Amino acid sequence: MTTIGLIGSGYIGGTLARLAVAAGYDVVLSNSRGPETLSDLVSELGPRARAGTPAEAAQAGDLVVVTIPLKAYRSVPVEQLAGKIVIDTNNYYPERDGQFPELDDDSTTSSELLQRHVPTAKVVKGFNNIFFRHLAELARPAGAADRSALLIAGDDSGAKAAVAEFLDTIGYDSVDAGSLADGRRFQPGTAAYGAYADGPNFWELPGKPRGVDEVRALLAG
Ligand SMILES: NC(=O)c1ccc[n+]([C@@H]2O[C@H](COP(=O)([O-])OP(=O)(O)OC[C@H]3O[C@@H](n4cnc5c(N)ncnc54)[C@H](OP(=O)(O)O)[C@@H]3O)[C@@H](O)[C@H]2O)c1
Repeated sequence: MTTIGLIGSGYIGGTLARLAVAAGYDVVLSNSRGPETLSDLVSELGPRARAGTPAEAAQAGDLVVVTIPLKAYRSVPVEQLAGKIVIDTNNYYPERDGQFPELDDDSTTSSELLQRHVPTAKVVKGFNNIFFRHLAELARPAGAADRSALLIAGDDSGAKAAVAEFLDTIGYDSVDAGSLADGRRFQPGTAAYGAYADGPNFWELPGKPRGVDEVRALLAG
């Protein structure tokens, strides 16, 4: 696995692109406005990075990250993602995304909506519960005493193993929270959602490292 495709290159997409390039991956960035609007980020990232359309990023990625406002999920390319591993960072915020009745009544989850849209892809929920600056700051080499673990959830065990390997190379351990439906356990409103936040004004403060046991405890509680 050498190329990471990014559908969405904002706070989380940009942070993941930096971590991935630092770990030796190639990245293909994309957004809604077009590749030319990503030239500053591509220059910053250097020769391992290029920009394309969402379809090009999907096609090029051995692993593809969907990191856009949830309301735009139906525009994610389907054909180019057939059979691929897709990490879904998205969260449902009705004030931003509008109302989704099936999420309001909790009959499904945001990651399951994306999975239904890309039926043959293997969707893994991840990175949704860490503030982008903390994601950048808390990455550590394997074995570091203060290495943090990130939660993943998905219905395909092979895809989860591949995502765990990706996490390891960019600086994180992982904790398997279960199926895509179990993604509820770390969506907005849960204890695990704020796992790395240190206080109510978390965005002004450094992230709190959370190891495997602490993340498991937050998930349980
Ligand atoms: N910010 C965080 O710390 C954080 C943490 C965890 C999870 N999340 C979740 O992760 C997702 C991304 O968050 P973010 O903060 O990175 O958002 P963001 O900074 O607003 O970036 C969103 C990115 O998605 C692109 N985009 C929008 N519509 C698109 C479409 N139809 N096709 C392709 N690209 C599209 C945007 O491109 P344009 O600018 O060209 O429109 C932009 O590059 C959200 O669901 C958010 O809730 C965010």
